[in-house]
Amino acid sequence: MAANNKRRHVTTRFSFNWKLLILFFSVSISCVVVLAPLFRLHYYTNANNNSSRFTRSSISRVFNGPPKIAFLFLVRRNIPLDFLWGTFFQNGVVSRFSIYVHSTPGFVLDDSTTRSHFFKARQITNSIQVSWGESSMIQAEKLLLEAALEDPANQRFVLLSDSCVPLYNFSYVYDYVMASPRSFVDSFLDVKEGRYNPKMSPKIPREKWRKGSQWITLIRSHAEVVVDDDIIFSVFKKYCKRRPPIDSRKGKLNLKLQKQHNCIPDEHYVQTLLAMRDLEAELERRTLTYTLWNQSAAKKENQWHPMTFTYANANPQRIKDMKGINHVYYETEYRTEWCHSNSTSVPCFLFARKFSQGAAMRLLSEEVIGHFEVSAMLDTPP
Ligand SMILES: *[C@@H]1O[C@H](CO)[C@@H](O)[C@H](O)[C@H]1NC(C)=O
Ligand SMILES: *[C@@H]1O[C@H](CO)[C@@H](O)[C@H](O)[C@H]1NC(C)=O
Ligand SMILES: *[C@@H]1O[C@H](CO)[C@@H](O)[C@H](O)[C@H]1NC(C)=O
Repeated sequence: MAANNKRRHVTTRFSFNWKLLILFFSVSISCVVVLAPLFRLHYYTNANNNSSRFTRSSISRVFNGPPKIAFLFLVRRNIPLDFLWGTFFQNGVVSRFSIYVHSTPGFVLDDSTTRSHFFKARQITNSIQVSWGESSMIQAEKLLLEAALEDPANQRFVLLSDSCVPLYNFSYVYDYVMASPRSFVDSFLDVKEGRYNPKMSPKIPREKWRKGSQWITLIRSHAEVVVDDDIIFSVFKKYCKRRPPIDSRKGKLNLKLQKQHNCIPDEHYVQTLLAMRDLEAELERRTLTYTLWNQSAAKKENQWHPMTFTYANANPQRIKDMKGINHVYYETEYRTEWCHSNSTSVPCFLFARKFSQGAAMRLLSEEVIGHFEVSAMLDTPP
């Protein structure tokens, strides 16, 4: 889900004349790097915590070979842009990544449902039915992270949707993400918004409430925090719910329902949880995934929708502009976040959404993500 309307991407290299613009924002905390080893302090008070978690955390740092990035695809059914990702991975190094897919239960990625062998049988087996904008979405994220934590070589965890595309080749993405000792989590304060429900207190105090894009990249210790949390998640399940549309059949009940705090769990959960655990010094407080917001929809319907890129508007200049963005302004905090990875200036965005198949095809043919091999699309397993 995405309704982040308080951020503005800015670039010093271009002046945008996009009519439908982008609003975007976040807090940046000071650049104090806290690289202390991350001690995992867990209180296993909940019966749902099973002992396998102890096992996982104790073996989690032992692995041979290079560290991997786990690419976590949270999708409805198939991977519509698998042909693009297939080429991206084809140009990558097999020992440096792994792929996990959360799709609707029972859906199988096989010859008939994916064009890329990289995705075959990569869906996790304990997937759940996800309702967009509800806590099942966070649950699905937690399941993906949990599955990926099983492989100790996975050291970074990138969450992607079915309309996300890479803006660079594999080696560039790998070096950028691996170089950063911090997670990339868009996270900001928005004092005016009404999504915080005072009933969440004292488990979640108001000053720890955060907002930000769902599309996160986590370091391993933060992935563990997210998977191991039941306490904050249970508060979210109870008090962070989307307000249903007015339904005339419900009569007076509508009054009550419309008073409810309109809350979109996936735009708050990880941000708030990491703030609660005092881990914000270990974050780059921005997302790696570019989104363009439709301003006319915002004006007309007072709703924020991401724009979908099509073949026609995913032109090379557009892509170049996206890749040229080097800072993000967070309006609610009057804060400018200059984009860094491991203290080096970098372009802000490695990925973008939402891309249609046509737009993805254009990226592919223009070799944005590296050399395009027709064979990658015909899928001949290595
Ligand atoms: C990947 O992209 C980077 C930056 O665009 C470029 O410098 C590099 O040569 C590319 N690497 C490969 C293996 O294509
Ligand atoms: C991060 O930056 C430091 C200082 O410039 C450098 O020594 C280190 O190798 C970098 N880390 C990675 C993983 O690139
Ligand atoms: C932007 O929103 C307007 C109003 O809802 C809609 O008519 C238009 O199709 C949207 N544009 C895109 C590119 O999504």
